[in-house]
Amino acid sequence: MDPLLNPYTPNAGAKPPIVVGRDDQLANFDLLLARLVRGRTEQSMIITGLRGVGKTVLLGQFRSKALAANWVTVEIEASKHEEDAFRRDLFFKIRSALFELSPKARWDDRLRRAASVLKSFSFTFDPSGSVSASLDVEAADGSADSHVLSMDLTELVLAIGEAASTRDRGIVFLIDEIQFLQRPQLEALITAIHKTVQRTLPVTLVGAGLPQIAELAGDAKSYAERLFKFPQIGVLNSQDAQTAISRPASEENVEFTPEALALAEEITGGYPYFIQELGSAIWSVAETSPVTKQVVQEAEPAYVAKLDASFFRVRLDRATPLQSAYLRAMGGLGPQPQKASDVAAQMGRTSENLAPTRAELINMGLLYTPEHGYAAFTVPHFDKFILRAMPTLEVPEKRNSGRKAR
Ligand SMILES: Nc1ncnc2c1ncn2[C@@H]1O[C@H](COP(=O)(O)OP(=O)(O)O)[C@@H](O)[C@H]1O
Ligand SMILES: [Mg+2]
Repeated sequence: MDPLLNPYTPNAGAKPPIVVGRDDQLANFDLLLARLVRGRTEQSMIITGLRGVGKTVLLGQFRSKALAANWVTVEIEASKHEEDAFRRDLFFKIRSALFELSPKARWDDRLRRAASVLKSFSFTFDPSGSVSASLDVEAADGSADSHVLSMDLTELVLAIGEAASTRDRGIVFLIDEIQFLQRPQLEALITAIHKTVQRTLPVTLVGAGLPQIAELAGDAKSYAERLFKFPQIGVLNSQDAQTAISRPASEENVEFTPEALALAEEITGGYPYFIQELGSAIWSVAETSPVTKQVVQEAEPAYVAKLDASFFRVRLDRATPLQSAYLRAMGGLGPQPQKASDVAAQMGRTSENLAPTRAELINMGLLYTPEHGYAAFTVPHFDKFILRAMPTLEVPEKRNSGRKAR
């Protein structure tokens, strides 16, 4: 088919022509905004799921809905920032939100107050004051400048929430890759949002991240459980998967036979990203409508090769030989969560010995811990990939631990 008309979107965060299977989350988001506008409280959500299931796309849908409802959005893609970089990122995003609420010339007391608090916050990471020079208000000394992150964020978010409410606007923080926030950063955000909920300000936070995100401890955990639902998104059900494959094509007047759709669903396992990659490969191979099962079979090798060379490969390329061996040992055991001791046994080592390797892989976002003592791949079908990429398990020589045996 004409490559110019290929309707599939095999790219991270790329909005597909049709977003299927997310009606519940979208309805929940509508309800959340509508209730906050009425001064009611409502649990917000942190969407969790494996790589490629559509978390970023869903946040994008939330963003469109928020903008349509005249909310101000503060979008953050979390990374493993140190605290100062995190503060700096928030500063610039919140500054934009202030200007979005109203141009500077029309700031009222509440907006000026929020700008003053923001300026004072900026001194915590930029004592020279150069980043906040353009705000031309006096800093609100003593507000948001304690250097205690949870206190500073609480004061800042309250100030901007109050400014927004005087304009009958709300503010929604949309945080992607939220698992990369360092624990004190996540806890500080949760504490700040908790305070705004108590004051019934129209401020909320919606996040998306890998499944381990729900693990928190202490006060932050009890707040988090009250403030957020943690809906998991994952594979599409059979009907939605088939719609996700067929509808983009039928909008271009290309149909699929039922057998072709069934096979495409089976190959992709219903994973949104895999559906886009396979759809795109099918489009390249297909010459006539309807697309048959044979065409899907013909497209499969290119689909697998593309995934291996990109989606999977980038993840393996960052791993050391020992980390790769760990992934390979896990893959040999299958796609389900694996016990640390079973993986270690495959490698002829102990789980204590491999604990640092496992922790590194979790920290890199390649594995997560669905329950204590277990780890699972964050990337669907990674078990099959790793067996293709590393047909045999080779464990690197144990490094000398420093004590030379002579
Ligand atoms: N509901 C959906 N239906 C069909 N395809 C989707 C859907 N959501 C996402 N996709 C596609 O899946 C891929 C991964 O989406 P993305 O949002 O980047 O996933 P994640 O953020 O969970 O890793 C993209 O190619 C996107 O076009
Ligand atoms: Mg994403």
